Amino acid sequence: MKILFVCLGNICRSPTAEAVFKQRLRKLNIQAHVDSAGTSSNHVGEDPDPRSQTHAIQRGYRLEHKARQFKIQDFDFFDHILVMDRSNKNNVLKLTQSPQHHKKVTLLTDFIDDSTIDEVPDPYYGGDAGFQEVIDIIEMAFEGFSKKHFTF
Ligand code: 4NP
Repeated sequence: MKILFVCLGNICRSPTAEAVFKQRLRKLNIQAHVDSAGTSSNHVGEDPDPRSQTHAIQRGYRLEHKARQFKIQDFDFFDHILVMDRSNKNNVLKLTQSPQHHKKVTLLTDFIDDSTIDEVPDPYYGGDAGFQEVIDIIEMAFEGFSKKHFTF
């Protein structure tokens, strides 16, 4: 299984999701290719935001990713393209008309039963609580995703 997480800058939310999923899948002994990308090119080549790195470390995750921009070839390579918010979803979907590509794109929060959580909010312009909330939501989504896609 190949999973790609997508946000805007690829320095906060999607590298965090990549790290959480990689660590959780490793613990479950599940092989998967996990990566992340941003729809914008503004931060290409950068390390994850230091605030995301700090909060991830406090929760036991290490962010190891250099930002890259989402590219059209990602639609064919990946099985699941999991986006953080509706804006990311629109940005990704407008790159292709293919129904096969469209059906790979899902809001990460669609794997959470709690309907009050319907996006992973952008933490970039906010404080610490936003970065913690990103990790909380991603961990919940991992539970839902793994229940749906893996049998234990
Ligand atoms: P991300 O957060 O999409 O979760 O990586 C952001 C990073 C940078 C910017 C916005 C959101 N920015 O405007 O530079």
